[in-house]
Amino acid sequence: MKIPHSFSEYTEAYRESVANPEKFWAEIADDFRWKKKWDKVVEWDFHKPEVKWFTGGKLNVTENCLDRHLPARANQTAILWEPNAPQEPTRKISYRELHEQVCRVANMLKKHGIKKGDRVCIYMPMVPEVVFAMLGCARIGAVHSVVFAGFSSRSLVDRINDSQCRLVLTADGAYRGDKKIDIKGIVNSALDKCPSIEKVIVLQRTHTPVEMKPGRDLWWHDEMAQVAKECAAEEMDAEDMLFILYTSGSTGKPKGMVHTCAGYLVSIDYTFRTVFQYTPDQVFWCTADVGWITGHSYIVYGPLSAGATTLMFEGIPSWPDMGRFWHVIEKHKVNIFYTAPTAIRSLQTASLDFVEKYDLSSLRLLGSVGEPINEEAWQWYHKNIGKEKCPIVDTWWQTETGGIMISPIAHVTKLKLAHATLPLPGVQPVVMDERGNVMTENSIEGRLAMRFPWPSMARTIYGDHQRFKDTYFSTFPGHYFTGDGCRRDEEGYYRITGRVDDIIIVSGHNMGTAEIESAIDEHSAVAESAVVGFPHDIKGQGIYAFVICYQKPQEEEKVKNEIRETVAKIIGPIAKPDKIQFVNGLPKTRSGKIMRRILRKVAEGDVANLGDTTTLLDPAVVEEIKNGAV
Ligand code: WT7
Repeated sequence: MKIPHSFSEYTEAYRESVANPEKFWAEIADDFRWKKKWDKVVEWDFHKPEVKWFTGGKLNVTENCLDRHLPARANQTAILWEPNAPQEPTRKISYRELHEQVCRVANMLKKHGIKKGDRVCIYMPMVPEVVFAMLGCARIGAVHSVVFAGFSSRSLVDRINDSQCRLVLTADGAYRGDKKIDIKGIVNSALDKCPSIEKVIVLQRTHTPVEMKPGRDLWWHDEMAQVAKECAAEEMDAEDMLFILYTSGSTGKPKGMVHTCAGYLVSIDYTFRTVFQYTPDQVFWCTADVGWITGHSYIVYGPLSAGATTLMFEGIPSWPDMGRFWHVIEKHKVNIFYTAPTAIRSLQTASLDFVEKYDLSSLRLLGSVGEPINEEAWQWYHKNIGKEKCPIVDTWWQTETGGIMISPIAHVTKLKLAHATLPLPGVQPVVMDERGNVMTENSIEGRLAMRFPWPSMARTIYGDHQRFKDTYFSTFPGHYFTGDGCRRDEEGYYRITGRVDDIIIVSGHNMGTAEIESAIDEHSAVAESAVVGFPHDIKGQGIYAFVICYQKPQEEEKVKNEIRETVAKIIGPIAKPDKIQFVNGLPKTRSGKIMRRILRKVAEGDVANLGDTTTLLDPAVVEEIKNGAV
């Protein structure tokens, strides 16, 4: 695989990827282990929409992540696991051992009737077994749907039912700093409402006593001990589903983004090697949870496909103290560190003593993902963590894109603060004006779209292709619309300016305002609500909720707390509103649409510039909202 190592190699690769995408991607795909080569590199039509890569090709993703590394790397550490509690021993899982564990999971799933195409839900803590689980599914062609273990039981129900999962892989509990999370309890209450689930396999992690339902629930260690350590890899079609991963949308219902085998593998491996310039024997650490796309692509599939050592951390950055990340970097001599701006901003508030205690000299490069990295966080990260020697790659991408799209290439692309810089080879962004015309010049601002497919793009929304079309391909016909605004500067560098739809990015997580609103509305006192984002020092964006109650609450604080708990119960603690303002009305147009622009201004504290409010049904509500801002 030809990875660009200099700027001229990058421009050459980029030029070729646009002039002849088929040749460009075929050369990359050639390096993988295929059971049968493809007939056609790409077939696509963004109007339908339909995208297929490497059609006719047959392969198995796990053979590429495991078997093909065994001759050279059987004893190399594949997963370097750091537990929640620093005194608990580290685990090192070699490629040989990983291969064995993955085969065992595959056999265990088969034993319980799971076949190619069946959906398996994974609701697990950040332990190596979650990777065994994902790859165990992929080994036999089952489709995994990992649900972040911070989501509530209601969210779990929606996700299991939407894709009709047959089996759940989970654990008796999870550690999170000094807390223990009862994830089996969450699963138990979810499964009352999930008729498609036949079996639950439970890993012992916290050894907390849990309720096991006879006939349905089984212990992971019992099952794993009964099966063989070899399992032939299922022959998968290039376009067969690899996994479903849910992400928030503009309506309340989460979207099950579907990723397929070959295209995903090829893009993720290529982007991992290119952006991070990975060289053998380096230790790569992505701090995301496997429940998000960042974890799928850059803890699991990218590093393992590239034969890397991937560090997996079970804990949180602030426990036992604010130096935990830096301690882990020293302890495991991490070379590449990839985290989110929200983590940097929260660690930046702690004393520098937490950083200076540790030797960070192993670091060679730093990465950022999830939202634009603000200047102050960039500077702090660059100076105190990278010691002004490590480039920072600000990687822009989405659950839908599967892998990194616009990003500096480490040591290759000239960095520019707060800019995701340039598209990777194979990525063809366009900036659209308001009327949907492509702006070809530089020094412009508009909406970010793609005019050509890339291998790891999501193929559909599970069970709802029409929604896929409406969400991504109807705003600018013939183009994929990202939902983000952006600027392209005089040098052609991209700067992502944030979402232009009803999605807010809180601590790097994508959340739909509609989903939060419908959760708030479930509180019995609430008649209606409207949610917007506002600038938040640590989280990037915080959640501001305007709430109309049937009757003005007597004890406002009490009701606010109840509303927060309702949201935590329905979606999960990450969606709790930071601020709640009780109002008597919302600014609506005559057609009944909430004017969020006005609410956003109030939430930002910019009440002097509300703009035109004359089209409102009742302009008086604005005065009340302005005066009651919290
Ligand atoms: C949205 C996608 C990428 C995986 C994690 C989030 C925002 C992401 C950046 C960045 C500016 C960014 C965008 C995007 N975003 N990375 N480097 N600079 N914005 O995946 O939950 O699907 O969210 O996150 O708004 O559309 P996601």
